[in-house]
Amino acid sequence: MKIAIAGKGGSGKTTIAGILTRLLAERGQDVWAIDADSNPNFGVTLGLPPESVKQSKAMPSSILKEVTGADGKATMQLAMPPRRVAEDFGTRVSDRVTLLGMHTIEHAGAGCACGGHARVRHLLSGILKEEGVVTIVDMEAGLEHLSRGTDRHVDMLLLVTEPYFKALETARRASELARELGIPRVVAVANKYRSSEDLAAIRDYAEKHGLELVGEIPYDEEIQRADLAAEAPALNQEHAAVGAVRRMVQRLKI
Ligand SMILES: Nc1ncnc2c1ncn2[C@@H]1O[C@H](COP(=O)(O)OP(=O)(O)OP(=O)(O)O)[C@@H](O)[C@H]1O
Ligand SMILES: [Mg+2]
Repeated sequence: MKIAIAGKGGSGKTTIAGILTRLLAERGQDVWAIDADSNPNFGVTLGLPPESVKQSKAMPSSILKEVTGADGKATMQLAMPPRRVAEDFGTRVSDRVTLLGMHTIEHAGAGCACGGHARVRHLLSGILKEEGVVTIVDMEAGLEHLSRGTDRHVDMLLLVTEPYFKALETARRASELARELGIPRVVAVANKYRSSEDLAAIRDYAEKHGLELVGEIPYDEEIQRADLAAEAPALNQEHAAVGAVRRMVQRLKI
């Protein structure tokens, strides 16, 4: 199963990707966590100390190679099996979780991140069911990954939205592009709702626009506390946001 998490900037993509990854690992599932954001935060949200996140390297361009087809056209493809990419270039977060970085912008004016997007796209296309891992991709804010087809090969796109119009509109636009791309399952999750009115507004918008709402995650102080302390949120006590992600996992039968 390959799941990409997308949505408007700051809606909670990385937070939800982190909790989801750790809940799956907790029940014995191997997870490859791909940080497809050029401003990477997945590592810290998974509980890696900020210092080791700084040292972890992105996947190099050598994971792809150019091949010339029978028609004489050159195309890129994976130069090694996905498991080798994970072993050679991944950062071990825990026994079950390996983090793979897409691209880090190290210098201003260094150009576009298209190489990083291509690496993630090809890696995702190469990861097969037989690998026995769940792959969780934390996407960059906005819609560029959909125009580049970075998430073309995922099984499910999870669109995170907050209770305000611009975030909901971003989820709606993303869902249309994702369907155009042929992603088999496109679903939405409400995050950071603070009242029954917030929740009702999201449900209403989702229903009107044909968005399947698979999770409802409340605003939770524990998430804020953990973020400020550069830690992963606690999973052991039943915090409201973690509990809501657990229910979402059950509902999605991941
Ligand atoms: N359910 C929640 N309750 C409280 N705070 C939350 C919740 N979900 C996310 N946050 C907070 O919202 C902020 C943005 O979250 P996060 O970084 O996960 O969003 P993002 O969509 O990945 O952002 P970006 O677009 O920058 O990648 C963070 O400060 C995070 O701690
Ligand atoms: Mg993020």
